[in-house]
Amino acid sequence: MKSIGIGIVGAGHISGAHAAAVQKAQGVELTAVCDPDLQRARALAESHGNPKVFASLAEMLACNDVAAVIIATPNHLHPVQAIDCAKAGRHVLCEKPIANSLAEAKAAEEAVSSRNLVFRSGFNQRFLAQVKLAKLAIERGVIGEIHGFRSVFSGKWDNYFDGSNFRFDPSLSGGTTINDNLIHRYDMVRHLLSDEFTSVVADLIHSVIPPVVDDNVNLIVTTSRGARGTFSADRYSPVIADSTELYGTRGSIHVVTNAVSPFHAVPLAIFTTLPAEEIPAELRDALFPQARARKIPGWSGWMSFWPQLNDAYADQVQEFGSAIQGSATGCIGATGIDGVRATELIQAAYTSHIERRWVDLPLPANAVYQVPTYSSPPEA
Ligand SMILES: NC(=O)c1ccc[n+]([C@@H]2O[C@H](COP(=O)([O-])OP(=O)(O)OC[C@H]3O[C@@H](n4cnc5c(N)ncnc54)[C@H](O)[C@@H]3O)[C@@H](O)[C@H]2O)c1
Repeated sequence: MKSIGIGIVGAGHISGAHAAAVQKAQGVELTAVCDPDLQRARALAESHGNPKVFASLAEMLACNDVAAVIIATPNHLHPVQAIDCAKAGRHVLCEKPIANSLAEAKAAEEAVSSRNLVFRSGFNQRFLAQVKLAKLAIERGVIGEIHGFRSVFSGKWDNYFDGSNFRFDPSLSGGTTINDNLIHRYDMVRHLLSDEFTSVVADLIHSVIPPVVDDNVNLIVTTSRGARGTFSADRYSPVIADSTELYGTRGSIHVVTNAVSPFHAVPLAIFTTLPAEEIPAELRDALFPQARARKIPGWSGWMSFWPQLNDAYADQVQEFGSAIQGSATGCIGATGIDGVRATELIQAAYTSHIERRWVDLPLPANAVYQVPTYSSPPEA
């Protein structure tokens, strides 16, 4: 089968991960890159097999070698560019968030899906081995019914600089902490629980960092099956702190995606009250070397997993290619609708913060999108 030609729009920091992923994955081929900063576009092309270089998306979309586009530009451009790609008949893998407002997210998703094109949202962390194992454990009932979760994702603001510095301008980024790192968590928890958020209350402030943006963010959410949970992130504390914990009637899951620490010392730990012989074979296999004997000696109920690191970006683009070819099975890629849901939660959290109240989801079609303003020093 012929490879699918992929173009990347935006040759900034994350574009290298996408370009390398396309080169690594089967059934896809990097055919073009574009960026108005031609120096960046050329550098990306030169280090990834010399695809064609363009200065604009319009020029790249005129190129017949491009069947699908990875959008890796500043956030405010995502929906406009997704719609341009759809109008030109191109499939879309759009970085997160797929849009800053719910209305724009829905418009982008509809533009792509109404043309029977594939839309994937860039929630690459779904493809990490430990997240896949956690999902399997939940689906097989290893921790029972989940009624509560807590997720933290902190990373200092100057740990990661984007090339165009858009993250600290909310008119471009739509927010700095609530919709950058932490957005991965909204998607991951929703994906792991196979559930929808039904309400949110949020407290968002600027506490420390030089740009006066949201650097201290806390959300409480409810889900349609009655679970409660929190999402928490800051952008001032020095180390990357990363954990998602889900608490069920038979056990708990503790998963990290970006950094281990003395408190979260393995990518995945699961506690279960199930007898060892009832642990699903896939989890036993992942518990090497115990799995060799198909027994878990000294069984205490705790299992620690350090799965081999996989390239989530490569797996993500490979699944995108398979979906385009119509050969995807058991899709775990985040769809356009998944992207819409994450943006909706953020918009609802903004309304909650501004109006100091719980906000129900889904939001009504006429819901107003408003980004909070922050003060320095913060309001008490
Ligand atoms: N999935 C992840 O874990 C992950 C990680 C990092 C970044 N991201 C997302 O990727 C996107 C880009 O982030 P980044 O850190 O690479 O930013 P960046 O600023 O480094 O790169 C953005 C690039 O887009 C280019 N650009 C601006 N306007 C353009 C236009 N009209 N057409 C084409 N290119 C244009 C800029 O010149 C720049 O090179 C963001 O949406 C971000 O949220 C996702």
